[in-house]
Amino acid sequence: MPISLEVNGERVDAQVSPRVNLADFLREHLHLTGTHVGCEHGVCGACTVRLDGEIVRACLILAVQAHSRSVQTIEGLSDSNEVADLQAAFRDRNALQCGYCTPGMLMAAQDLLKQHADPSRAQIREHLSGNYCRCTGYQAIVDAVEATALARRERAR
Ligand code: FES
Ligand code: FES
Repeated sequence: MPISLEVNGERVDAQVSPRVNLADFLREHLHLTGTHVGCEHGVCGACTVRLDGEIVRACLILAVQAHSRSVQTIEGLSDSNEVADLQAAFRDRNALQCGYCTPGMLMAAQDLLKQHADPSRAQIREHLSGNYCRCTGYQAIVDAVEATALARRERAR
């Protein structure tokens, strides 16, 4: 089926099988491999992307459902520097080890920080509870998100 959508600000026209999910489309057709695939059934959050500004699980959405819509991946957020401070905080606080969960974590964390300038640690944990990390134990991730929120508030003063 023919689809047209916007991906990271650029128009994309493609032919896809109706069965291809958005994560596979981004990775295999567009070579945007920052969107990871873990469980492939909506549990782990590794495939988190933005669809029309809302975070979604790209493994649960068919590429054809993204027709006429806007997708942002971790490459888009990274290239625009939207999450540069969050990425730096993840590095500084050892909030990633293998890095497999990291793109999805960054997408989810940025989604929280856009909604809440001053989230509690409980709110951070709640918002990231759909993103699994098998390496870090989560504490460092919560530290990184909390530190980024604080730094952003201080910059906004
Ligand atoms: S790969 Fe999509 S939620 Fe796990
Ligand atoms: S850093 Fe390895 S899964 Fe999170």
